[in-house]
Amino acid sequence: MTLNTDKLLAFAKRIASHAGTIMVEAREKKGFSADYKADHELVTSTDLAIDHYLCQEIIAAYPDHRILSEESSPNLSLDAVPTWVIDPIDGTVNFAHHHRHVAVSIGLYVDGQRLLGVVYAPFLDECYWAIKGQGAYLNGERLWVADGVSLRNALVATGFPYQKNALEKLIKRVSNVLHQCQDVRRNGSAALDLCWVAAGRLQAYYESVKPWDMAAGALIAVEAGAVLGRYDEVESAWPLGINGDSLLVCAPSLYDAMQQVLVVD
Ligand code: IPD
Ligand code: CA
Ligand code: CA
Repeated sequence: MTLNTDKLLAFAKRIASHAGTIMVEAREKKGFSADYKADHELVTSTDLAIDHYLCQEIIAAYPDHRILSEESSPNLSLDAVPTWVIDPIDGTVNFAHHHRHVAVSIGLYVDGQRLLGVVYAPFLDECYWAIKGQGAYLNGERLWVADGVSLRNALVATGFPYQKNALEKLIKRVSNVLHQCQDVRRNGSAALDLCWVAAGRLQAYYESVKPWDMAAGALIAVEAGAVLGRYDEVESAWPLGINGDSLLVCAPSLYDAMQQVLVVD
């Protein structure tokens, strides 16, 4: 299938930009309501409004494509058909608490492979994007990972799940990182953590996340020169290209060392 990647990228940037406007207006003018899914996982009316907007735009522009969306179609399986993988707000807890570290994440997969990704952070005015094989960019500037930083000086980001029932191993891993690296960041948006590895602001990021958290950011990080691998078993059934289990994304020279740091009993 021949796809016009420049046109697809322009489309993804345009809808990401408008999604950002919806976020800003909700926070600064219109307001939003908060609810919980699965008892404890925060979702706001703005997550749902952006999901609705993105899905409508994609269906109108590309009626034969599919959509895997956190809010409206989280169980879609990936196959050869072009599939948009969207997270309307990555960093919902930050959004609801009026923090600025929030993004919309839009990835496109074709034949089960990452083709393009856009991550837009409206409160930071930062738009990250990548097309497979063409590099990664932030507001038009080419991005490169910061390689060659020692493990001891590496700034490492991670995140924690909404469920509180299996934190023991996570805490051991954080302890290892604190002992062996420079410091830990828990910024609250997996998509932006991946982009910040791409931008050289972080040397490594690890976490178990869902496909929509990593679809766009993983491509952006890899296109900036990061290595994408795993620090533990992949347990969920998602195809590997979109599977966020035990994700370790870091500067190439740190990969082996970070894998060792993250080993726990
Ligand atoms: C969350 C954020 C967070 C990560 C969680 C994700 P959401 O996404 O990416 O940084 O630690 O695992 O669920 O819920 O804000 O879309
Ligand atoms: Ca997310
Ligand atoms: Ca979300």
